[in-house]
Order: sequence, then C-alpha cells, then structure tokens
Amino acid sequence: MLRNILSPAFIRPLSNQKTLAVRALSTSVICRPAAVDEQKTYTHILTETRGKVGLITLNRPKALNALCSDLFTEVNEALRAYDNQSDIGAVVITGSKKAFAAGADIKEMKDNTFVDTYKTNFLGHWAEMTQIKKPIIAAVNGYALGGGCELAMMCDIIYAGDKAVFGQPEIKLGVIPGAGGTQRLVKAVGKSKAMEMVLTGNVNLNATEALQLGLVSKVVPADDLVEEAVKTASTIASMSQPSVQMAKEAINQSFEVPLSAGLRWERILFQSLFGTADQREGMNAFAEKRAAKFTNK
Ligand code: CAA
Repeated sequence: MLRNILSPAFIRPLSNQKTLAVRALSTSVICRPAAVDEQKTYTHILTETRGKVGLITLNRPKALNALCSDLFTEVNEALRAYDNQSDIGAVVITGSKKAFAAGADIKEMKDNTFVDTYKTNFLGHWAEMTQIKKPIIAAVNGYALGGGCELAMMCDIIYAGDKAVFGQPEIKLGVIPGAGGTQRLVKAVGKSKAMEMVLTGNVNLNATEALQLGLVSKVVPADDLVEEAVKTASTIASMSQPSVQMAKEAINQSFEVPLSAGLRWERILFQSLFGTADQREGMNAFAEKRAAKFTNK
C-alpha cells in the first residue's frame, strides 16, 4: 500500500502540501527496520492471524507476563512483521492467563546500574512500537501494572476485560514509571488521579474505574475480550488503509505538538487523500447508498 502511495505516478500530481505529507511518510518508512520472518517462532509470545488482524499474546504466565527484554524485542519484531504484511490491517495485543503484563521484569533489572541501562537503551527500545503505522488494540485481560499499564497506553485503543487492573507501582520499587507512565497516564485520567496512582504506587484502577476516567474505551466480559477486540480491529482493517494510518498519525500528533501544528498536519493529511481511488470509492458509495469497497489505493 505504501509502495503505491510512494510510486512516481502517485507523487507526480501532488500539491506541495501533499508532497510534504508523502515525504514524511516515506521518511518514516525508510527509517523502519527491515521486515522480519513472519513464520518465526517466538519464545515469550504467541502470534496468530485472524482474518486481517494480527493477534499477539504475551506468554510468560508464570511471571505474570513480566516484560523481560527478550519479550519486548519479540513484541516489536512481531509488530514490525504485521506492519509489513499487506493483508493485515490492525493488531491486537493481549496477555495469557491472569495478567496482561505485571510490568518490566524486576528480577532482570534489579542489579542494573545507570551505565547498564544507558548502554542497553533500557526501555528506549520499547518506544519502537510507537513507530508502527497500523492501529494496535490492547485487550487488557488482567494485571496491567507498571510497564504493563504503559504498554497498554502505547496502544491506540484499550479494551478492558472485567478483571483488568491498571496501576503504576514503580514508586514502591524505589523508581518511577519509565515508559510513559508519567506522561500518557495524566493525559488519560487527569493530573490528580495520575499523581495519586504514581506517588502512592498502590492506587489501582479496576476496569469500571478505568472506563469512567477515560483510560479505556470499553469493558468487556473476560471470555469475550479478545473476540471483541478482534471484531473492532477487523472493522478498522476493512477501511481504506491509507486513511486509517493517516488518522492514527494525526491523532497521535495531538500528544506531541501544539494545537496549531496538529491542526495543520491534520489538514495536510486530509488533503493528501483527495484523488485517491479509495476517496472516490468512499464518497461515490455514500452517494449511491451502498457499502464502499476499498482497495487501499
Ligand atoms: N517482574 C518479575 N517477576 C514478576 C513481576 C515483575 N514485574 N511481577 C510478578 N512476577 C513474578 C513473581 O516474582 C512470581 O514469581 P515466582 O513464582 O518465581 O515467585 C510470579 O510472577 C507470580 O507473582 P506473585 O506470586 O507476586 O503473584 P500475586 O498474584 O501474589 O501478585 C502482583 C500479583 C500484585 C501483580 C505482584 O506480582 C506484583 O506486585 N508484581 C510486581 C508489579 C510491579 O511492581 N510492576 C512494576 C515493575 S517496574 C516497571 O514496570 C518499570 C517501568 O516503568 C517500565
């Protein structure tokens, strides 16, 4: 799909603004690591394809899916593989058994020095997942603590199973959240609640509280959680993929740039979709009172 967007035939008629948008897209494509083998067998995660949806299950249940470095590396590899797979439109991440993820692996990091964490870019490589262009839904089935809560917040949509628990207990370990917990949480639940959670380390949110505060968009009975997340992911995957990915990018801009810059970027992305086959199809289908058939072109 991106290859189509970036083909000379596509780029030639673009206005300056469109060229800017496409240049930004192409830059992020070039910076991305090479595709990985989609058939790869992982040690700490399970991967499965359901229609146009990639499903990743964190699978270290004995350690409550604690996020050791190897596990997070595998998550990033699987996400990149799905991002590069043209028949996949969205990804769901969930956890096995009673946890989504109980945080970064404390046993792995407990003897680290500052130099160790600096040299290995500890947690820095987690941020790679924010480079993924396809939408990611977190289906939070149980404990989402520390890095687990941060992992959920790095996803684009969060659904909570009715046994989900969200918290940032790092302060009790003598540290602070290191993968977005002080930044994304406050935007989701407000300053007072974020402070209470992070500063005490023991104010957790259950699924209903997380819904009321706006951290999650839906609470689903545990048994239906993955199915419900896959259903939403399938709906997203049936839309025009350039539009989906640009919408994700535009919304994420609201976290990163001032409003005026975000609005300008949104306008550029909006305009760049005009003249595409999917824009014509979507609007003609509306006028003709039928469902649109998108080709991602
Ligand atoms: N790292 C490593 N191992 C972990 C772990 C973690 N974050 N969380 C749980 N485990 C392990 C336990 O050590 C235990 O292993 P053993 O059987 O070998 O002893 C196993 O998982 C089961 O855990 P519990 O026996 O503790 O299970 P429980 O049901 O009694 O309690 C819990 C569940 C409340 C989630 C508790 O395990 C807990 O408090 N875990 C730690 C949560 C935490 O502090 N997370 C933040 C980590 S730091 C971080 O994430 C930094 C960051 O910002 C990225």
